[in-house]
Amino acid sequence: MHRVTLGVSGGIAAYKACSLLRLLSESGCDVTVVPTESALHFVGSATWSALSGKPVATDVWSDAQGVAHVRIGRESDLVVVAPATADLLARAAHGLANDLLTNVLLTARCPVLMAPAMHSEMWEHPATQANVATLRSRGVIVIDPAVGRLTGADSGAGRLPEPEQLADVVLATLAVGGRRDLVGRQVVISAGGTREPLDPVRYLGNRSSGRQGWALANAAAARGADVTVVAANVDLLDPLGVGVLRVETAEQMRAAIHTASADADVVVMAAAVADFRPDSVAADKIKKSKEPDPLNLALNPDILAELVAHRGAATRPLLVGFAAETGDENGTVLDHGRTKFAAKGCDVLVVNDVSGDKAFGTLDNAAVILDPSGVTREVPRGPKLDLANAVWDVVAEQ
Ligand code: CTP
Repeated sequence: MHRVTLGVSGGIAAYKACSLLRLLSESGCDVTVVPTESALHFVGSATWSALSGKPVATDVWSDAQGVAHVRIGRESDLVVVAPATADLLARAAHGLANDLLTNVLLTARCPVLMAPAMHSEMWEHPATQANVATLRSRGVIVIDPAVGRLTGADSGAGRLPEPEQLADVVLATLAVGGRRDLVGRQVVISAGGTREPLDPVRYLGNRSSGRQGWALANAAAARGADVTVVAANVDLLDPLGVGVLRVETAEQMRAAIHTASADADVVVMAAAVADFRPDSVAADKIKKSKEPDPLNLALNPDILAELVAHRGAATRPLLVGFAAETGDENGTVLDHGRTKFAAKGCDVLVVNDVSGDKAFGTLDNAAVILDPSGVTREVPRGPKLDLANAVWDVVAEQ
């Protein structure tokens, strides 16, 4: 079980840290909350101790015999401060140790994440920017604040990202366990499922939640890559620190992938691309009273096959495909996967068993990864983040 310390400093966004705490606990983390005195103006200690199941303290005197100011930092696998106010960033950058949270920050040797939240003027102030630069130069992962509604009616940069987004970064950082083998690498990932319009209301689509693509993006970003996701109809918040291009159809995905992959080191096609689209799109809604025409379908481009052809004899970008397979009378899932691997010409193929709703919309996944040396790696059923890291392990080896 991962031990996470959640530092909360005194900003209105402290209420969002309650959801973050819940998400981390539900994902199996053992969370200790260390609020600052000011944080308790926004959310009281009863809430923090009830949600975490542990006593909370803001100073170093409450548990002097347990030497909490040293123990909590030393025992943490990760410290996340959300929200991190301008004052907390300043104190951390200058190494102050005037409350329990700043003591924890000085004793922790694990990854430290900070999610600043404050008014735009305070975020943009040279003092805050210098403190952020100092913290980053020391290896602290400082997440850029979101742009949007602030405390009052105003909006701008300074909003705390949503708890789900922060939890994904925390879990990805823990899962990566210090692997920074994708630093300097440009990675493009397709995610979701394309929709091919039939009329203004209906479409032909492919089932895919985009969660596996999101896990690949979060894991790659945590391993240091520069990540772009081309997302087709994904109903999830953008992964933090990742460029996201939203598309709908296979043709739009094709254009976005070709542009984004011009300088890419790796392209991972995790999206479910519709192989067919209606030949023509009706301008008005097709009435059911009308005698239905048999569907005229046109073949969509095979984006992965095009990437293989376009690369020619070059070795970059490395191309990773996903194969969604079900077994049938002609062969097992793996038999079909091997045939597809040979036919597609990509470098790595991740073979997914999708029979009986095993992959779509679920939080878990299992797969077999085929690589050019003929090695077959089985990734047992587990979080999509685990499969994502197994894919990046194979990519990093290549
Ligand atoms: N793919 C693609 N463009 C398409 C169809 C698929 O780039 N028009 C990519 C997918 O993103 C995936 C891989 O090709 O990485 C395999 O997709 P899959 O649907 O399993 O295979 P298909 O090639 O479509 O073959 P079939 O549907 O006949 O099994």
